[in-house]
Amino acid sequence: MINVKKIRKDFPMLKGKMQGHNLIYFDNASTTFKPQCVIDESSRYYQKVNANSHRGDYDLCYNMDQELWHAREVVAGFVNCEPREVVFTAGTSMSINMVAWGYGLKNLKAGDEILISESEHASNVLPWTKLVELTGAVVKKIPLDKEGRITLANVKKVISDKTKVVSLASVGNVLGHLIDVKGIAALAHEHGAVIHIDGAQSVPHMKTDFKDLDIDFLSFSGHKMCGPTGVGVLVGKYDLLDKMDPLLAGGGMNEKYDLCGAVEYLTPPSKFEAGTLNLAGILGLAKAIEYLESIGMDEINDYVIDLKKYCVEKLKDLDNVIVYNPHSECGIVTFNVKDVFSQDEATYLNSCGIAVRSGEHCAKTLNEFLKTPATCRASFYFYNTKEEIDQFVEVLKNGGNFLDAYFK
Ligand code: ALA
Repeated sequence: MINVKKIRKDFPMLKGKMQGHNLIYFDNASTTFKPQCVIDESSRYYQKVNANSHRGDYDLCYNMDQELWHAREVVAGFVNCEPREVVFTAGTSMSINMVAWGYGLKNLKAGDEILISESEHASNVLPWTKLVELTGAVVKKIPLDKEGRITLANVKKVISDKTKVVSLASVGNVLGHLIDVKGIAALAHEHGAVIHIDGAQSVPHMKTDFKDLDIDFLSFSGHKMCGPTGVGVLVGKYDLLDKMDPLLAGGGMNEKYDLCGAVEYLTPPSKFEAGTLNLAGILGLAKAIEYLESIGMDEINDYVIDLKKYCVEKLKDLDNVIVYNPHSECGIVTFNVKDVFSQDEATYLNSCGIAVRSGEHCAKTLNEFLKTPATCRASFYFYNTKEEIDQFVEVLKNGGNFLDAYFK
């Protein structure tokens, strides 16, 4: 059971105000707040253990190497993979670019197909679009069902032996539908394709088992799961990582190179970690994982889904609110207030101390499906409460006209 009262004390940001009101933060799909233990851990790096990794023969460096490996083990334990399959990146976008360039550029040719969907975040569209320009491969979109879901049946309609890569968000960042990752992975493998999962919205909320899902690549970000910004992870099956090219080349990733241009890379994960890593971020991420695990991923998921259901039920009573994803299996409620442009509504909510995201949510190919140019999105995490939702619903009841934000 989540003890939300106790948990909220861990987050300094939750004590904040916005526009003179107690802050209600409902933009967790964008980024989450950090508990004090994560802030302290990143700060510990700068205050107590500041050194580079893999670059020195003195104690501080040696200790940092140990801490870095421990962080890798913590991440590996969290998603059930081998520590050597954990590559530290700057975030999900970088991780996906690493797969597109490192795997895609090396293995795809003209006529090969990459399967994505209309509901993908820009980070899971644009790297593939660029790859298409360079290789002559083709991006195909899996049709969404009437609720906006990616179903196994619809994947079957478009997958073929030309498919070389399937790349999908396990939970979409706008509608929040959970896909059948295991089923789609098995199908991809039957057709000889690799599967990459964008876990930015799912890994922070639910247990993720890389081995059991039998996926090839998994990307996620630290900042959406109580960790620092600027740190993320690419998990890849070791054999694939071993054959893949690095996106970045530089210090810390090469075994040797010479004046004639001969280069030998280190083995994964080092091969993909050129330059000095975001060590304060990595230590903070490991701490965030320990923090989430101390609460329990199942507890987090159940609690957040309960908040979402509660919110959807309450919004049903409001004739002026359209909810686009009442049945999705995560803590995202995407909505509009009738006849009010979403950014105006978000401005009004801001004036009442409530933070939601509005606009296209970096998923610009979904507009046609939604039949609206923009939406508001309230996204919950385990430190949100039903009382906050009550206040939010109350504000929506009264807030049909964005001019209220300026003239109240
Ligand atoms: N990917 C983040 C979002 O959906 C930024 O809001």
